[in-house]
Amino acid sequence: MFTKSQIDVEKLNPDSPFFKNALVPTREESTLLSLLDNLGKLPTGFRGELFVPLLTHTNPKIRTLAVKNVGKLKDERFLTELSQFAATEKNTFARREAISAIGRMRSEKAIPTLMHYLTDTDPKVVLQSVRALLYFKEKSEVQTALDALLEHPNELIREHLISEIEDKRSGRQNGKKDPQHPISPEALKNVIVHADVQEALKLIPDESIHLTFTSPPYYNARDYTIYQSYEAYLDFLTTIFKETHRITKEGRFFVLNTSPVIVPRISRAHSSKRYAIPYDMHPRLTDIGWEFIDDIVWTKPDYAAKNRNGGFFQHRKPLGYKANSVTESVMVYRKKTNRLIDWNIRQYDDETIAASRVTGEYEKTNLWHINPTANKVHPAVFPSELASRIVQFYSFKGDLVFDPFGGSGTVGYVALTHDRLFLLCEKEMAYVEYASQTLDTPLFTHAKPRVLSLTDLKSEFAERN
Ligand SMILES: C[S@@+](CC[C@H](N)C(=O)[O-])C[C@H]1O[C@@H](n2cnc3c(N)ncnc32)[C@H](O)[C@@H]1O
Repeated sequence: MFTKSQIDVEKLNPDSPFFKNALVPTREESTLLSLLDNLGKLPTGFRGELFVPLLTHTNPKIRTLAVKNVGKLKDERFLTELSQFAATEKNTFARREAISAIGRMRSEKAIPTLMHYLTDTDPKVVLQSVRALLYFKEKSEVQTALDALLEHPNELIREHLISEIEDKRSGRQNGKKDPQHPISPEALKNVIVHADVQEALKLIPDESIHLTFTSPPYYNARDYTIYQSYEAYLDFLTTIFKETHRITKEGRFFVLNTSPVIVPRISRAHSSKRYAIPYDMHPRLTDIGWEFIDDIVWTKPDYAAKNRNGGFFQHRKPLGYKANSVTESVMVYRKKTNRLIDWNIRQYDDETIAASRVTGEYEKTNLWHINPTANKVHPAVFPSELASRIVQFYSFKGDLVFDPFGGSGTVGYVALTHDRLFLLCEKEMAYVEYASQTLDTPLFTHAKPRVLSLTDLKSEFAERN
């Protein structure tokens, strides 16, 4: 076995016979694997032909690593060998590596081979070819071939191409900073809008907020008269979350707390009905342009669940089992973008990033054990511990956190506690009053909550403009 430092020293000496003797197919497989894996960056002039006999090695890992090393050389002299290799290789990883190596040559001679692999059955191979061909996108034959892929059945390929086209059209540079990103409109800072959220949202400009955490009304779980039908309820939430998407900054998060609900039976001749809100909302959210990130399960202690299995407990007959529900869904989405989360982080200065670091112990799994909270004024609040985790994990200090269904103002309280700003909407005056009192405390000397009607909010924007 060769050591990494030995390999590094030998690489510096172009006349050394070391690699000629070491890179032979008959050598012990583990030694070959370790050598190929530890080669690192290859110096200019490295004898790439030493890898060629390894391309037919019986061990697919050795073949893959050999191809990878040829790729590092970015040398079109190996185009024929790699094209033949890709055409006959059965191992998926090795084939992908071969297309990547051909792409890295950035040679016009490689265009026909890369075009050929646009129809491959492995989406990763197609993506490798697409990436490589994008370098030659000014050529009309390449453009035509790539355009044809906009209808490709694989979503990753379609999305990759669409984002490339959009970037090109908007002249956007992926690494470029957006100075507006950490900033939110003054008119919305630490505000409770007392109104129907459907109306309030119409007044809020695009890309105003950084994070939404909300728990909407749970259909007609408490009152039959609110929504005409379950479909109408889902449509209502979809409208709100579409608007929320519009007012959210690029690549930022939306976290939805819901759970299946039971609507009690109308008479003894009927059974109660269960509605799977999180599952029914999910496809609607992804259609709007929210990209699914995580499914967190909030679990409560057993005592918190309504007992549903009293009957079953007695008779124990199959089909009659009903689980007591101790969990709620906390679904995490991100406003879809081709920019990485790193881009979002880079929009902040170093002090803000350092100050927003999540310190100490934190939950590492998606199972969050949190006790429920009761409130003397509001019947359905979520615990501040739940909101605290969401705010800390998905926003930076100074960000504007939105709750379209603000209730008792938990999101506002937690936002201020963690040096964020809040924007809440709530249609019931009793809850608005309670929230504004809770938020107007000497604890938060830096923030004075303002309650605004729709008219107030309109004039706020008018004045500031
Ligand atoms: C489940 S509660 C939210 C409770 C909140 N998370 C808390 O911790 O206090 C839902 C809230 O949405 C409010 N609401 C329902 N429909 C609304 C609408 N169209 N516009 C504004 N608020 C609405 C209800 O009055 C209720 O307070």
